[in-house]
Amino acid sequence: MNGKIYLVGFGPGAEEHMSFKAKSAIAESDVVIGYTTYIKLVKDLLDGKEVIRKGMTEEIDRCIEAYEQAKLGKTIALISSGDIGVYGMAGPTYEVLLQAGWTPTDDIQVEIVPGSTALSACASLVGAPLTHDFCSISLSDLLTPWPVIARRIEAAGHADFVIALYNPKSGRRTQQIVEAQKILLRYRRPDTPVAIVKSAYRRRQDIQLVRLDEMSDCEIGMLTTVLIGNSSTFIKHGLMITPRGYANKYSSLTGAAKEGEKAGISLTMGLEGWYACLRQYVADNPGLTLEKIADYFGVVVGEVLSAIAAGESAGEHKAARIQAGKLNEVVSACESWGHLRGIVRAEAGAVTELFLRAKDFQLRGDWLNIETDAFHCHINWSKVNAAYLACRTDKSYGVNFIDNKGHLVFRLLLMKENGEFSATKINAYMQTWQALIEEPNND
Ligand SMILES: C[S@@+](CC[C@H](N)C(=O)[O-])C[C@H]1O[C@@H](n2cnc3c(N)ncnc32)[C@H](O)[C@@H]1O
Repeated sequence: MNGKIYLVGFGPGAEEHMSFKAKSAIAESDVVIGYTTYIKLVKDLLDGKEVIRKGMTEEIDRCIEAYEQAKLGKTIALISSGDIGVYGMAGPTYEVLLQAGWTPTDDIQVEIVPGSTALSACASLVGAPLTHDFCSISLSDLLTPWPVIARRIEAAGHADFVIALYNPKSGRRTQQIVEAQKILLRYRRPDTPVAIVKSAYRRRQDIQLVRLDEMSDCEIGMLTTVLIGNSSTFIKHGLMITPRGYANKYSSLTGAAKEGEKAGISLTMGLEGWYACLRQYVADNPGLTLEKIADYFGVVVGEVLSAIAAGESAGEHKAARIQAGKLNEVVSACESWGHLRGIVRAEAGAVTELFLRAKDFQLRGDWLNIETDAFHCHINWSKVNAAYLACRTDKSYGVNFIDNKGHLVFRLLLMKENGEFSATKINAYMQTWQALIEEPNND
């Protein structure tokens, strides 16, 4: 007789939240293996079964035991709370099996039985917090280095995901939740709704609805999942809700579309329409810098330039991309633009302005250097991936050098002479425009 291993996720805890398949897999099994607490949670289903209880740290032992028992021709249920594939035993079991030479065509069959994971169980108890894009992050640094966890929290905060924190705190790991809160408060309002759900669908179930700035002071333990809202999540009548629509912030641009929104058709600010919305915003806010526009939409400056370049008009702003392979030529062309202002922005906030002439540029290997008596500036030219000419009539004329992620590497701007732009220099600038730009791909 061939053995079989069921990897069973039995849901949050209560029997009524267990799937039919989870129950039938356990019923069919000769042996049930699990962490002591999980075995207690399914005790009513264990009559007549061989039960193997293991401690919290004996995860690999549980997998090895399952394999050994299956080799004897028995059917095994290796059980885990929630979904066994979510921070559960499915991964380690496959690792143990593959290391032992097992393959999916082996006599021993393996079947995964999915369950309701903690984040959906906890969400169901507080309202509908996961109705828009969300992610889960485990704060356990037992197997994951803290910089990796911190980077993920940072990215999720920046991208405005609703976040479910698994393994948020234990007796020994008390500061991770404090650090997570600090990172998220850089991106989210202090009053962002947070649900702290302990022991969902178990005897000691407890729910707290709090603000993000209160989160780390609350009672949180090993059996808690923390759900942190995005910038649209709200609490009403004790329910935490994340709206499905996301256009609030951009309502002035999407208002008309909201009225006549058609089922199955992308929003005006969907992939196809959002460049036009950006150009509309630029036209409506003529005084804004490219950086301010990028901040408003949460995008990089290269994306703003690309959007402006893709259309006929964006109010006073115009932009055009330099043809691929002509980056060096644009630097040479700058020599006819007279005195220039070089702008270098550091991400942390410093802006350096350098008064220079393009004839001082020297390309050496990967570096574009300008060395004058007053300063040395070294630009890593190998990072420059694209260049956009961009101007606002009578206000500014220049070129923006962009890296492959769309970040501004540096910008050169024409300078006024006696309060005005020289017609000759503007002429030279416009000639560069005609000679080197790509044909716009109008959207
Ligand atoms: C090792 S992970 C296991 C996750 C599980 N496989 C799942 O899909 O829910 C343990 C973490 O899951 C969360 N968790 C599991 N069951 C829970 C429950 N009933 N209520 C709240 N959180 C729970 C807690 O964050 C806990 O620290």
